[in-house]
Amino acid sequence: MAYRISINDSSFIAPSQLGFEANNGINLYKDFQITGTDFSTKDEVWTQPWGENKSIRNHYNEVAIHLKDSKATRLTIRFRAFDDGIGFRYEYQVPNIDSLFIINELTEFNIANNGVSWSIPANFETYELLYRTLPINKVETANTPMTFKTDNDIYASIHEAALTDFPEMTLKQTEACNFKSELAPWPDGIKARFAGGNVTTPWRTIQIAKEAVGLINSGLILNLNEPCALETTDWIKPMKYVGIWWGMHLGVETWTMDDRHGATTENAKRYIDFAAANNIEAVMFEGWNEGWESWGGMQTFDYTKPYADFDIVEVARYAKEKNIQIIGHHETGGNIPNYERQLDKAYKWYADLGIHSVKTGYAGAYPGGYWHHSQYGVRHYRKVVETAAKYHTTIDAHEPIKDTGIRRTYPNMMTREGARGMEWNGWSEGNPPEHHELLPFTRLLAGPMDYTPGTFDILYEKTRNSPKRKKWNDLDKGNSRVNTTLAKQIANWVILYSPLQMASDMIENYENHPAFQFFRDFDADCDWSRALAGEPGEFVVVVRKAKQNYFLGASTNEEARTINIKLDFLEKGELYKATIYADGKDANWETNPTDYQITEQIVTANESLSITMATGGGQAISFMPVDE
Ligand code: NOJ
Ligand code: CA
Repeated sequence: MAYRISINDSSFIAPSQLGFEANNGINLYKDFQITGTDFSTKDEVWTQPWGENKSIRNHYNEVAIHLKDSKATRLTIRFRAFDDGIGFRYEYQVPNIDSLFIINELTEFNIANNGVSWSIPANFETYELLYRTLPINKVETANTPMTFKTDNDIYASIHEAALTDFPEMTLKQTEACNFKSELAPWPDGIKARFAGGNVTTPWRTIQIAKEAVGLINSGLILNLNEPCALETTDWIKPMKYVGIWWGMHLGVETWTMDDRHGATTENAKRYIDFAAANNIEAVMFEGWNEGWESWGGMQTFDYTKPYADFDIVEVARYAKEKNIQIIGHHETGGNIPNYERQLDKAYKWYADLGIHSVKTGYAGAYPGGYWHHSQYGVRHYRKVVETAAKYHTTIDAHEPIKDTGIRRTYPNMMTREGARGMEWNGWSEGNPPEHHELLPFTRLLAGPMDYTPGTFDILYEKTRNSPKRKKWNDLDKGNSRVNTTLAKQIANWVILYSPLQMASDMIENYENHPAFQFFRDFDADCDWSRALAGEPGEFVVVVRKAKQNYFLGASTNEEARTINIKLDFLEKGELYKATIYADGKDANWETNPTDYQITEQIVTANESLSITMATGGGQAISFMPVDE
């Protein structure tokens, strides 16, 4: 069995194998006969409670090919062709078996032309790796989304949708430009195990576009997910947040309870006051519960025992009084059994305190030799989303399974990490300037990311020589910093979409800072988004509409550049005050990152703006209607 894809009569995916291998002589890939073929079409618009776009058009042609082998195994392969790509999945029915073990996936993506690609290497344990720009035929392994541009100018990205009770798919190049699926295994080498013989796989997807930004503007991944499964969603709200977090990464505060403890009652109240005074909906506290002494060791966190200097009842009361939401935190260190034992109790306990949003973390290996991205891991992450939903709680998962669009089905699965985020700048060589122009064309095609942008003290001038600072991470060489300009940090709040968007610096670095006005004005609850221009690893310009306001973010890699942007996305006939947060004249990410300027201008939809960015720089603009 094989498939191929042509675009306007030219080959895009050359004949590529389909199917799986199973154990015990069960056949899932050969000697099938076609028993029927159903063609159908769908064209609908559906809406979601939050997202880059609240309404999405789902328009495709489908062919379902029904097959049967000599032992009565049935298979339907369902293909959907959209204007922005394709998806296909396998639906197996193997009669009279108690269990089915998949030992290998045979699916190939045989890219017909070489070209350039952007990806991280395949790894069943982590996505926190640097992106590589490589000729397609030089990629040995890749995690998805793997994005590429062929020599005949087609942009595309291979990924998967609706990853449910299955291991993640990674890619391995087997011959020139031909990539085969490699699934994350169980410790015994089996890739996926099922009770009974009825198995529907996740969708294998390829987003396809003429322009690079077409990939960002595609709704394909969400369209291939099931509709919302939750009875109500009015409790799910996008929010901006600050938190007790960056001080730990910079080494001036601790997660554990000692004289440098970050999450104290007093400090928590200071953050709540700051949020309340700055139009920020939520605060997040890490290091509030017992168990941090065991991080990196036994990983025995307790999710209902606050440290003695963190009076959670009082903190929750104070937050409520100030109308601020608390984002709780569950670090597991990867100890899934310990977490699952407490899961229900922990979510109920938080909910009883009025805490309905939780950041989770899996910084550490799973006991028992399970991979983070295996079927075991996928099941766990889903169990957490479902348990949280029971208590009307939203999830922000760090060290997650990759996003495959399940937020459509479970809108409480709001955001996740799943790439190198801001934390890496705290204690390593950091993320290079091009990282932020790669993420939107790779990782973010999968869905929102909790990157946690917004460091204003770019060179750590306030903390580097502080007597409180202690090295805690082996990668810390003492010379870490943020590798962007200040304006680019602001732009990233718009570009790196997250419905829970953090201003991640310590609040003292925002106090009285004129450029923080952008975050005060920013609205995490957007209605509509459009990527206007960009090339992977080079630059990107994104605009989002939230209620009557628009927010634009533009950023560039190490190349300084000027981009002309038409404002025709604004409402015709309206006057807007544009507040422009730009790189200063002498800004340079390496030598002068904090030089910025703020200017104001009245604009309409008929005008254009010329966006000038320094090396490693960016620009953010808020557009607010002027009352006439
Ligand atoms: C890694 C997460 O990405 C980070 O945000 C968190 O602070 C640490 N783990 C500790 O939980
Ligand atoms: Ca992380």
